Amino acid sequence: MAYRGIVNADKRMSTIDRNIYGHFAEHLGRCIYEGIWVGEQSPIPNTNGIRNDVAAALRQIRVPVLRWPGGCFADEYHWKDGIGPRERRKRMINTHWGGVTETNHFGTHEFMALCELIGCEPYINGNVGSGTVREMSEWVEYLTTASESESPMAELRAGNGRREPWKVKYFGVGNENWGCGGNMRPEYYADLYRRFQTYVRNYGDNRIHRIACGPNGDDYRWMEVVMREAAGYLDAVSVHFYTHPRSLKAHSSATGFAANEWFVVLDRTLFMDELLTKHGEIMDRYDPDRRVGLIVDEWGTWYDVEPGTNPGFLYQQNTMRDAMVAALNFHIFHKHSGRVRMANIAQTVNVLQAVILTDGENMVLTPTYHVFDLFQVHQDAEALELTYDAGVYSHGSGRGIPAVSVSASRDKEGRVHISVCNLQHADGATIELTLRGVGMESPAVRGTLLAAEAVDAHNTFDQPDRVKPQPFADFRTEGGTLTVNLPKMAIAVLELVPGEDDVVIKK
Ligand code: AHR
Repeated sequence: MAYRGIVNADKRMSTIDRNIYGHFAEHLGRCIYEGIWVGEQSPIPNTNGIRNDVAAALRQIRVPVLRWPGGCFADEYHWKDGIGPRERRKRMINTHWGGVTETNHFGTHEFMALCELIGCEPYINGNVGSGTVREMSEWVEYLTTASESESPMAELRAGNGRREPWKVKYFGVGNENWGCGGNMRPEYYADLYRRFQTYVRNYGDNRIHRIACGPNGDDYRWMEVVMREAAGYLDAVSVHFYTHPRSLKAHSSATGFAANEWFVVLDRTLFMDELLTKHGEIMDRYDPDRRVGLIVDEWGTWYDVEPGTNPGFLYQQNTMRDAMVAALNFHIFHKHSGRVRMANIAQTVNVLQAVILTDGENMVLTPTYHVFDLFQVHQDAEALELTYDAGVYSHGSGRGIPAVSVSASRDKEGRVHISVCNLQHADGATIELTLRGVGMESPAVRGTLLAAEAVDAHNTFDQPDRVKPQPFADFRTEGGTLTVNLPKMAIAVLELVPGEDDVVIKK
């Protein structure tokens, strides 16, 4: 079946902030420990304790920003326990996640070293639920004051081996304070937020974006109250939304599911669009100039854990379905990029919709990783206006969802990237796009495809390349129209490069 649309390349919407391709790594299960941090004495090749294979894979997808240390862990975390000589660091019980002992071996210095190694911005989430204003304020001082400033925290930092202050641009004031972060009401949190953020100070030329804890999914009242009471004191507000089949009473395994669960999960994922529209409308009332960013700092699929693993570790496999969930979410974030300035997948390694899985010294890249890789071309590009007939895909329930999804952007070199998805599990799709204002008579077009034969196709340590990007050539450009033939369950990215005779239109 053919789906037709128009790319209006002369109508630019908004910049797709690179931070939309951000990540989240929590002290949860095997994300930080094993997945990222193995320690300097490990036989697994590492740089000052950080796995080389994982760091290289994250550099490859140009992770722009990394959120840490939680999640629910953030509101139990006391940063001073995680500095100084490792063997003397205080231990604690990670009560939220499996009741295991947290050694605090991965702390502030290790996290900042990780960000430097990957080349990303740190996004630190402070503790409101069980922490104090002083603790939060001193953490910011420790991180960002110059040693010459006679700051006691800078002195402490220098004593721990780091004279130079770091730059920290993003700081979260609490996490899920409506739930694990203190079970607060929005009125109470908004007041606490105003108080805590007062002491999250800008030292020297460091400028912090203060991020308030936003709602749980469609809790529009939370957004309303926080914006009403605190909009003038924040730079961004977060929202968390997971694709959780169990909440839909659907079979909730990460693998071994049928076409019905493929459909249900994609259907639920698309709710993100409504969520961002409605939260955006509330924000527009209090912030019509869109100064305040909306940050989706936890998103992704949440299934039952892999059989035989600790239920508190949230370890799940990752299939072509997760790849499609990622691609659809990115298209939604692009659409809302006038307001959505950051998004952070939950989570980077070994937890929930991970982009990387590890087992001892082995590492496997998941189908979701490959979407991050393919879609990195959209980072900081200008979203282009697009209208198209997405068709209807239905299965089982009688509900219909779009059969295809498309997004387009132009980067600063003048290249246009069009990502296309065929959501259907059984049928191929032809997408015909009229290219208006693209300004290319004879573009060179290059395609890459991520597709699978089975709804739950995935990569394992034995078969790490079952789902991976392939060169793609089943398209043609003729008379200003790009026609793409997609197989079932497929994601492709087409790159249009201006020809020699074309005038290059840049972002
Ligand atoms: O990502 C796992 C958990 O989900 C986070 O710790 C919490 O913020 C959310 O409920």
